Amino acid sequence: MITKPEPPVMIDYPALHKTIDALTQGETDEIALMATVVCEVHHADDRFDWTGFYRVTEPEVLKIGPYQGGHGCLKIPFSRGVCGAAARLQSPQLVADVHAFEGHIACASSTQSELVLPVFDGHGALLAVFDLDSDEPAAFTNEDVQQMTSLLHRVFQKVL
Ligand code: SME
Repeated sequence: MITKPEPPVMIDYPALHKTIDALTQGETDEIALMATVVCEVHHADDRFDWTGFYRVTEPEVLKIGPYQGGHGCLKIPFSRGVCGAAARLQSPQLVADVHAFEGHIACASSTQSELVLPVFDGHGALLAVFDLDSDEPAAFTNEDVQQMTSLLHRVFQKVL
């Protein structure tokens, strides 16, 4: 019997926002929030092959936080990689081709494109970066940037 291949799972942002709002209601612990966000986002779309947070744990240094996918590097200085650039510049980094990005850190050789967003707490201080990696080239869009920015703002403004 010939079975039809499953259609790819594409993210449903309104549903994702609703689920994460419900799950995180009343929670202010940053690790609990990160673990919940990463789990919901990672499983929401087939484009996401590695999804995780890198936390600011000391000046100019990111340390791995909750994630899903294969193991990630434990420590990333602000001076290195796409994650470092997002932390240093405090702005989203949409990288269509990681091989063209000077200083990209290849934790997984399968990664082709990335979206890394800064995460701010309720005081506007940089708490972490949120790293989405895909094995597909140019996997991320400006809509992903906007939706993820709004999601991260809603969730992490509760951290004071
Ligand atoms: N891709 C990131 C490094 C982290 S991992 O891929 C999990 C970067 O260049 O910042």
